[in-house]
Amino acid sequence: MERELSHPKTTNKYSIKIPVLGLGVWGVPKNKTEKIVTTAINQGYRHIDTAQIYGNEKEVGKAIKEKDGIFITTKLWESNFGYEKTIKACEESLSKLNKIDLFLMHSPHGPEIRKETWEAMQYLLKNKYVKAIGVSNFGIHHIKEILLWAEIGPCMNQIELSPFLQRRELSNFCKEEGIATTAYSPLTHGIRIHDERLMEIGKIYRKSAAQILIKWSLQKDNVVIPKSTNKERIKENIEVFDFTIEQKHMKILDALEEGFATCWDPTIDP
Ligand SMILES: NC(=O)c1ccc[n+]([C@@H]2O[C@H](COP(=O)([O-])OP(=O)(O)OC[C@H]3O[C@@H](n4cnc5c(N)ncnc54)[C@H](OP(=O)(O)O)[C@@H]3O)[C@@H](O)[C@H]2O)c1
Repeated sequence: MERELSHPKTTNKYSIKIPVLGLGVWGVPKNKTEKIVTTAINQGYRHIDTAQIYGNEKEVGKAIKEKDGIFITTKLWESNFGYEKTIKACEESLSKLNKIDLFLMHSPHGPEIRKETWEAMQYLLKNKYVKAIGVSNFGIHHIKEILLWAEIGPCMNQIELSPFLQRRELSNFCKEEGIATTAYSPLTHGIRIHDERLMEIGKIYRKSAAQILIKWSLQKDNVVIPKSTNKERIKENIEVFDFTIEQKHMKILDALEEGFATCWDPTIDP
């Protein structure tokens, strides 16, 4: 299943479609990446989420070589911020991946070089290095800052999101601005996966807690990128398109909010 991505402040010139479920490959060792990504593609995944800092872009590139229609998200690491460095780093990623559909600034770090970095991102889009540009871990103030002057706004903000960390204000802001959200660490990095309340709802739909978490993200209109290195769990995580969580159960999941972040949180940085 896909959804449309469009860049605020532009016409539909740069619109593209993104598969709403992808495989995250953070922490997947280099020597296992090609096999795991191939397994995922064979199970029906059409979107892989990697990053320069994950160190496995080359192996993702090998796995998708000669495969049509695989959507690739990668992220510009902070040490590559700056106008010239951004373009050079994108070229390096391209040489490893062969293509980039969605290119994200990995964080808002470095207030003094955010502007020139986004200017370079716009250059990359306009010159067809990448098909779409966005951000990750940006808070409302960071996005507002870009929208103030940018010619092309970010089409995506990738943030940590789960029923245990819903970031409602940020999500609603992005929705209002026409910016899509990707939920990362949607399985809470495995930490809340055995929560009894999740398992209870899972029983009703004959689904696992992981499948309930993924479906919750999808029903909130997010793109979602669970990570697994295990063949069975990779399969399990994509088997979420044959059921719908009823509103009354979505409300129970919504009540799990506890501001629980498993990862870093640059959204609050200056
Ligand atoms: N932009 C950013 O700053 C940022 C930050 C963090 C993550 N991300 C992206 O988001 C992706 C996902 O986040 P994440 O890797 O932090 O964690 P996650 O997807 O929330 O959870 C992954 C953990 O859950 C386990 N798991 C996977 N499927 C399962 C299932 N069906 N049942 C039980 N356990 C299961 C995995 O173990 P096994 O591997 O053994 O299955 C792994 O330990 C990353 O890979 C990355 O692409 C982006």
